[in-house]
Amino acid sequence: MRRKFVAGNWKMNGTRAQLAEVRAIAEAAAKLPQIDAALCVPFTLIASAADAAGAMPIGAQDVHEAEKGAHTGCVSAAMLVEAGAKLAIVGHSERRADQNETGHAIWAKAAAAHKQGLGVILCVGETESERDACRAERVVQAQIEESLPEDADGSWLTLAYEPRWAIGTGRTPTPEEIEAIHAAIRRKLTDLIGDRADGVRILYGGSLNGANAAAILAVENVDGGLIGGASLTAEKFVPILEAAAASSR
Ligand code: PGA
Repeated sequence: MRRKFVAGNWKMNGTRAQLAEVRAIAEAAAKLPQIDAALCVPFTLIASAADAAGAMPIGAQDVHEAEKGAHTGCVSAAMLVEAGAKLAIVGHSERRADQNETGHAIWAKAAAAHKQGLGVILCVGETESERDACRAERVVQAQIEESLPEDADGSWLTLAYEPRWAIGTGRTPTPEEIEAIHAAIRRKLTDLIGDRADGVRILYGGSLNGANAAAILAVENVDGGLIGGASLTAEKFVPILEAAAASSR
C-alpha cells in the first residue's frame, strides 16, 4: 500500500512574507498523519521554510548534478541538505523548456540528489501536440527511460506525471486519461526496475485544486499530487491535503 503524497511546488514565488503560509500548511499536515506532505520552495526560502515547517519536509525545485565547482548560479545537493531540504524536484517541464534540460541531465540530477540523501520527485509529461498526436504514453515512457536512475526505489524516488498543457491552465485530463497514462508509467517502471516499481509513488500534477482533487486522487495508480498555483496558500492547499487523507481511508 503506497501512502498518498502531496507536494506543493511554489515555483518562483515566496519570500519571508509567506512563511506564515508555510506554518499554516505544516500545522494542517501534522493533523493528517495518514498522508505525506511537502513544500518545494525557492532556494532562498529553504532554510527559513525548514525552520517554519517543523516536521513537514521542505524541498528544492532543482539541484545541480555536480558536487561542487565552477557552475555559476547553481546549487548542489549537499548545499540543499545543509539548508534543511529533504527532497528536490528534478525535470520539471518548465526547466526542460526554459533551461533546455535533457533526459541525461535529469538522470544525473536525480542520482546526485539521492547520493546526498535527498528524496527526488522526477517529473515527466507530454505537450498538447504530442497528446493530440496520440504520442503521450510513448513520450512519457521515453522520458522515464532516459532519466530514471537504475537503483530507483520508492524509499527515495517519486514520479510526477504532469501534462504540460494542464500546468497553470485550469485544464486537466479526464480521470480515464489519467488512469491510462499512470498505468503506462507503472508498466515502464516495472520494465526498468522490476518489483521495486510497486513501491514508487506516481503523482498527478497540472491544475490540481480543492475542487478536482477528490476525483483525481481516487484514480488507480494516482498516489498523490504535485501542485503549483493551489499550493501557495493554506486556504487553497489544505483542502487538497484533506482530500488525499480522505482518499486514504
Ligand atoms: P499547477 O502547476 O498546479 O499550477 O498547474 C503544477 C506544476 O507545475 O507542478
